[in-house]
Amino acid sequence: MRGDIIKGLHHVTLVTGNYRVNSAFYVDVLGLRRVKLSVNQDDVYHRHAFYANPEATVGSTITFFEWPQLPSGRPGLGSPHHVAYRIKSVDLLRPWFWWLRSRGVPVSGPFERFYGFSIYVRDPDGALIEIVAPKEDVTYDYVKELMDSRIEVGYITEEMKLMTFDHVKVLGIDAELVSRFYEKFLGISRWERAADVSGREYLVASDDERNAYLHYLITPDVDYGLVGKGSIHHVAFAVDDDVDQRSIMRRLNSVYLPNSGVVDRFWFKSLYFRDPNGNLLEVATVGPGYAVDEPPEQLGTKLVLPPWLEPRREEIEAALANLDSINPNKWPPNYPIMPDEPEE
Ligand SMILES: [Fe+2]
Ligand SMILES: [Fe+2]
Repeated sequence: MRGDIIKGLHHVTLVTGNYRVNSAFYVDVLGLRRVKLSVNQDDVYHRHAFYANPEATVGSTITFFEWPQLPSGRPGLGSPHHVAYRIKSVDLLRPWFWWLRSRGVPVSGPFERFYGFSIYVRDPDGALIEIVAPKEDVTYDYVKELMDSRIEVGYITEEMKLMTFDHVKVLGIDAELVSRFYEKFLGISRWERAADVSGREYLVASDDERNAYLHYLITPDVDYGLVGKGSIHHVAFAVDDDVDQRSIMRRLNSVYLPNSGVVDRFWFKSLYFRDPNGNLLEVATVGPGYAVDEPPEQLGTKLVLPPWLEPRREEIEAALANLDSINPNKWPPNYPIMPDEPEE
């Protein structure tokens, strides 16, 4: 196998109950760019929205299936806990905190973590989003004091922008099983053990080019999760090309591990399977990318369909309009309550 076959995260997909509310939050409040508006290719009468950093970099894309009918989800086995975006520096936590407060968004922090300093927000569906600043040579007291002093923030500056994913946090039971599975099938061999402030054990995957992008909390008493509104549906890892993707598929097939086979998503190719804790994983190719069917400057501005769904556009648009009529836009949303210590 050529070096690390997995190139960190590709995208993370969650569930929202309302596309318009979701879009207002991720674009206007978190400052991401909508880079694709399409439908769920496995359920074409429901939307699939993609948001990313301004360059639409692989590893910055958070995507949402709009499923108003689903109940709220909860993290656990099969339902990862949260996703974290990275910002440039610790000093930017202050404008972020007060910007979010000014928008009425529940936000908590700062917290000192083994990988940096963090604040947490809940999106309108209750999904937990972490914003991480790198660990600089500063103390927790410095960060806390900095953030405690109120500041007026009128907009998200270029400097403040969310850069890319820092990590996704997944829950599991058995450290040995997790590390062996991810090494055997995904070639992720560099695992470090870390502990949080309360002493809980994490397995953390990293490579030469990336921070620790996968945090696996090992918690033997964890319950089954529920994938629903506000929860993570699946986590996609990046591979360079079809060759690497097929090599992972061959590994899965060699032990008859159920998988989707390669599915052409038009903007990338996908392979789906579950890890031993029931988490749905995807391995997605970097190319051809979101600009394959839209000019880069117009990404995400209108509903795009892959070519095989284009003949059904009228029928699909009618179904989406019908969905909107029974699922009215409500802004500002009633945000879920933010616990003081969201990782507990
Ligand atoms: Fe985290
Ligand atoms: Fe996906």
